Order: sequence, then structure tokens, then C-alpha cells
Amino acid sequence: MDSLKITGGHSLNGTIPISGAKNSALKLMAACLLTREPLTLTNMPNLADTRFLSQLLASLGVEVYWPKGDSECRLNAAELTSTIAPYDQVRKMRASFNVLGPMLAREGHATVSLPGGCAIGARPVDLHLQALEAMGADLKVEAGYVKAAAIHGLKGAKIVFPFVSVGATEHAMLAATLAKGTTVLENAAREPEIADLANCLNAMGANISGAGTATVQIEGVEALNGATHAVMADRIEAGTYAMAAAAAGGDVTLQGAPVGALGAMIDALQRSGVAVEADEAAATIRVQRNGSALKAVNVNTQPHPGFPTDLQAQFMALMSIADGTSVIRENIFENRFMHAPELSRLGADIQVRGKEAIVKGVEQLRGAPVMATDLRASVSLVIAALAAEGETQVNRIYHLDRGFERLEEKLSGCGAEIQRVDGE
Ligand code: EPZ
Repeated sequence: MDSLKITGGHSLNGTIPISGAKNSALKLMAACLLTREPLTLTNMPNLADTRFLSQLLASLGVEVYWPKGDSECRLNAAELTSTIAPYDQVRKMRASFNVLGPMLAREGHATVSLPGGCAIGARPVDLHLQALEAMGADLKVEAGYVKAAAIHGLKGAKIVFPFVSVGATEHAMLAATLAKGTTVLENAAREPEIADLANCLNAMGANISGAGTATVQIEGVEALNGATHAVMADRIEAGTYAMAAAAAGGDVTLQGAPVGALGAMIDALQRSGVAVEADEAAATIRVQRNGSALKAVNVNTQPHPGFPTDLQAQFMALMSIADGTSVIRENIFENRFMHAPELSRLGADIQVRGKEAIVKGVEQLRGAPVMATDLRASVSLVIAALAAEGETQVNRIYHLDRGFERLEEKLSGCGAEIQRVDGE
């Protein structure tokens, strides 16, 4: 297995281009199943996860034209040859589950494996299923599969989510585009990726309003057409590099950053004493820290527009070298502190108590071999390693390849000493 060798202590200086958002791309790709015409996605991130979903779509009969390394992907679902997404494909990546609603809406039936739990928590799909049921789907869960049918098509419905779920909001929105009548989603997630998905679906002929607010309304249409849509920039990638620059020190400009989607992250960095200049019109964020101390800041993860859970691990790495003690509370997932013991291997002083991690800043982290269990945890170790003295080996980096495009190239372009080491 490949690993990364990082020699810390170099400041980061330069420009980092931000790629298309993984978590938006995955739902946009599923939207191709709603139309017989081609959907072209530009600004596509080349990642293990997006490539993996393209294989699943191909196995359903979608013609995929996406040359290796290309940022444009053409998906043509003129004919579906299967409406079954098997265990092996859904188990490996939870977002694959979102093919259920579109296939059901289009074909009247679909069978998709349950995604199962994952390292960061149980992550059930009950809200996804309740939404589809409210739209008239007949659902059976058998042998780990959801067998869904809606022989006469889905019907519009009022769906009140008991708590905010990004995936369930997106799934319901996808399915409702082809339902008969109006669907209203209450207590919908407000993540920027939801507005991105609605923009793409509207370009395909859907009639969605309110995406990005807590109430989304979808007027069902007879059929959707093809479209070309640019995937929004990745707010989590941008936030990650902002924290890397803050931790290692230096002067980094993030180019093509979704500034408006990063308010809580920018606020937390500024409160910790980092100079951040954000220019929404230019889509740039400049992050500078030259020798000044970091202040300990508390954060609480919340649904958007709160501080994102997907930046919690990275912020913990930063706080591990701040002056003072910070309390980081994880409210979205029940088991998302697995980076804490690994950060401790680098010398961080972190105690986890239930939903809270108490981080006492230390003067200096020191390199060590570490290993991570999920995507954002892995990159938090990279951030800590960049700030640490000496060499760190980050193992199990296939997690990083799932969600960070050209990570080594982007960081070494700013002066980081980082190399991929081929494993057997
Ligand atoms: C999306 O996951 C993202 N994944 C996650 O990013 C992100 O952390 C999360 O939203 C929150 O922002 C993708 O977009 C592919 P949820 P999702 O439904 O949709 C519970 C990353 O690192 N829940 O908003 O699965 C759930 O267990 C990933 O890129 C139910 O109980 O998140 C969680 O505790 C990790 N029943 C909470 O709700 C349901 O039916 C919020 O999950 C659905 C969710």
C-alpha cells in the first residue's frame, strides 16, 4: 500500500488551484440516470470516488466518456441495461446509494444494496427511504437490498425531515423531479452542494425552487433533457489547504475557491489569529501566517452554514499547535475522532470525551509513522505533518485518493516536502 513521506517545517508559499467538489460531483453524476439525453459535467474532479461511481453507472448501461485525467465527463443514459446496484459497489462508497431514487423515478423499479455503516458512524438511510415511501414507492428490504417499485410512477409529497440530512435531501430532490405533482421538502439541508444539484437539474428541465434554504419545492415534470453543468468548487478542499497554510505558516492563495460557502471556516481561522483575505468576485482566498502564534478557538460542527464536520479533523490538527486549549464538538457523526490518537502520535495533546475533543496546544509536533481510517482524518495528519519537525509517514493513503485531487503536486508546488512512496 502506498504511503506519503512528509518532512515538516517548511512554510507554504504560492497558489493552489481548487478542484471541483467531490460531494457535488457524486450527486450530479447520479442525475444522468433521469434523462435519455447526455449530461456533460465540466470541472469534474479526478478522484477514486468519482471514477468508482462512473464504473457503477457504466454497469447500469450508462455510456461514460471520461478520458483519464480529463475534467469533462459525458454521461449518456439513453438506455439502462440494469436497475440493480450490487452490494460490492454500494458497500465501497455510500454515495452510490443515490442511484436508487433516479432509477425508480425513471423506470418504476430499482434494487440497490444498503450501504451499511462506515468508519465515522452508523450512517443509516432511513430518511432516504421515508422520503421515497412518502412519494408512493413500495419498498422492501430483503437480504441487505432495498427493492423499490412505483409501477405508476412517483407522486409529489410533503416531506418533513426530522433532522437535517444532506444525502436524503439530495436523494428526495432527484427522485421528485420526475414525480407527478409538487414535492415540498421541509427542514432540508442547506449545503451549497444542494443548490449546485438543483442548478444542474433545472438546466435539465426540472422545476426546483428554494434549494439552499430549509424549504425546497419541486414541481415534477414529464421528462428531463440533457445539459452541460460545471461542478462547483470544493469548499472542503479549499478549507483544508487554508488550514495547511495556517498550520505550516506562509502565504498561500487559493484560486477558484467557493468563498461564499466558507464563512464559518474563514471566521474560525480569523478568530485563531490567521490573516485571511477572501475575495468573492475573484474567487480567491489568501491565507497568511508569518511567525505569529495561533490562538485556541472552540468549534462546534453543524449543518451548513455552521462549521462543517468535513473540516473538523483538519481544524483539530491546527488547534494542536495553538496557544491554549480548544474544545471541538462533533455534532453530526458519532465516531469522527479517530484522527485524535494518530495526531497524538505526532505529539498532540488531545482527550476525547464523548462528543468533545479537548485539544491542549503544544509548542511543537514531531514526525512519526501514522495511519488513518477515513478521508478527512488522513488529510488532518498531512496538515499536522507539514507543521511537525522531522519526517512523518502517512500510511493507508488510498483514503486521500478518494477525495483530494493531485494533493502532493498542489502542496509541493507551494514548497512542501512531500513524496508518495510506492508500497508492495
Ligand atoms: C454527506 O454525507 C457527505 N457525503 C459527507 O462527507 C458529509 O460529512 C455529510 O454530508 C455532512 O455534511 C457526501 O456528500 C457524499 P447526512 P451524508 O445524511 O449525506 C444521519 C466526506 O468526508 N442520517 O447529512 O451521508 C447520519 O448518520 C463525507 O466527504 C440518518 O440517521 O450525511 C449522520 O449522523 C463524509 N439517517 C447525519 O444524519 C439517514 O437516512 C447527517 O448525515 C441519513 C442520515
